[in-house]
Amino acid sequence: MIPVIDVFAGPGGLNEGFSSVLDETGNHIFRTVASIEMEKSAVRTLRFRSAMRHYRRTVAGSQSALNDFLANRSSLHELMENEDFKLSHKHAAREVHEFELGPDNRPDSDAIISEALGAAREQPWVLIGGPPCQAYSLAGRSRRTHDEAFQDDHKHFLYREYLHIIRAHKPTVFVMENVKGLLSSTNRGQNMFDLIRGDLEKPSDDLEYELYSMVKSDLARLQGQDFLIRAEDYGVPQKRHRVIIVGVRRGSGLSAPAVLEQRDRVSVGQAISDLPKLRSSVSRGIDAHGDLWATLSDSVRTLLAAQDIRFEASGPWPTSSKERPKAQYDVENASLREYFSFVRPILVKDLPTWNHESRGHMTKDLLRYGVMSGMSKERGRSVKVRELDRSLWPAHKNIDALVVPFADRFRVQVANEPSTTIVSHIAKDGHYYIHPDPAQMRSLTVREAARLQTFPDDYIFLGNRTQQFTQVGNAVPPLLAKLIGERIATIMRY
Ligand SMILES: C[S@@+](CC[C@H](N)C(=O)[O-])C[C@H]1O[C@@H](n2cnc3c(N)ncnc32)[C@H](O)[C@@H]1O
Repeated sequence: MIPVIDVFAGPGGLNEGFSSVLDETGNHIFRTVASIEMEKSAVRTLRFRSAMRHYRRTVAGSQSALNDFLANRSSLHELMENEDFKLSHKHAAREVHEFELGPDNRPDSDAIISEALGAAREQPWVLIGGPPCQAYSLAGRSRRTHDEAFQDDHKHFLYREYLHIIRAHKPTVFVMENVKGLLSSTNRGQNMFDLIRGDLEKPSDDLEYELYSMVKSDLARLQGQDFLIRAEDYGVPQKRHRVIIVGVRRGSGLSAPAVLEQRDRVSVGQAISDLPKLRSSVSRGIDAHGDLWATLSDSVRTLLAAQDIRFEASGPWPTSSKERPKAQYDVENASLREYFSFVRPILVKDLPTWNHESRGHMTKDLLRYGVMSGMSKERGRSVKVRELDRSLWPAHKNIDALVVPFADRFRVQVANEPSTTIVSHIAKDGHYYIHPDPAQMRSLTVREAARLQTFPDDYIFLGNRTQQFTQVGNAVPPLLAKLIGERIATIMRY
């Protein structure tokens, strides 16, 4: 097993991908020996997943306690009381560290990493993770250009913690992920990508790394853009563009990892339409009893009929579901087959749909969602608010202006394309993540967002719903991470 240290681990997307890489005989190639993350709910998610892995590795036979919980036949409390699972969870608590990386805490994080690697530090091992991205993100930057404090934002410098770990522990290979904004971000006039690249190539006098892109081979010196991975080109049903840098220590004798092969696209409709249908709950507005859904459906039907669009209302559905999804996918399509074999684990019989609860919306928004998704379905693209009947425009003092100020606040994730990027902001506001089915009139659930991020259906997100959304939005898509892990496994094993 090749040890992995995962830092700024989030809910463990990168980790899950590496943990899923198998050799020819079905054995795992990588084993994460330490994860470091400071956010409590993400730590709970990481520990639970790590405990599941440990339990599956160590408990032979039917694994009934875990499967009973996953199949919703027993409670989390009952699972935690199970002696075998307790041991697995203790193991997970030693592996996953709730810890804030920072210059003052380096002695402690160094000790965590050294202890986790143990004697294996002399053998090839991998560092994965990426310093957090808020400070580089384009949205964050444009709002804060003139903000003096922003120039000194410590998040700009969290990569130095990553660099410190490289200097102190000298991983054989590292994988660093970051947002696209890193390529154009500057700090006091200096380009952040150039700064980081220089540091990573030569972390110290006696340590050098060759940097590789996973999408462009090193024919000439790679430009920043060459490190950008478009997840939708690799079987992820989401347009997610991230910088991923792979570093290989010079002198380690390892060759260059091969670049990823492009795959057919997987669309939102293909990725989530097998999940149980749900109704939104109604947060405020009108009385949720009586004929709310009939009234809403009538209004949607009338507004769509005005555009010559037919609307079939169906339902009623619950607001949450643990029903088991039915598999219905095109086995002819290789990338869809790969997607489903990754997200729908067969380890658990009767696996229900976890984290699949619709959030509450105001009735006016439900109407907008129904009409926008109906129009978007018909047109094969997400329509803008200004294309709606004026009665559906959000109230605003500039309502009569030619430019509708909220034009981009609402977005339907159309069925025939990969989704837009699932970002952690999904936790705050569902308007940008409207479900493609007009009859459901709602925003995406945590599970649907997790599917678009390629998390397996038995990956359980803990914490409250806002925290779950944030975790999902922060992650590297596990399927993409697995493809990268496979390339790295190849150079490390032969
Ligand atoms: C972009 S997410 C990482 C996603 C992760 N690589 C994955 O694939 O799931 C960055 C994470 O870094 C965590 N973080 C931010 N500052 C940190 C610090 N100083 N120490 C430890 N974790 C930190 C955040 O809570 C967040 O979960």
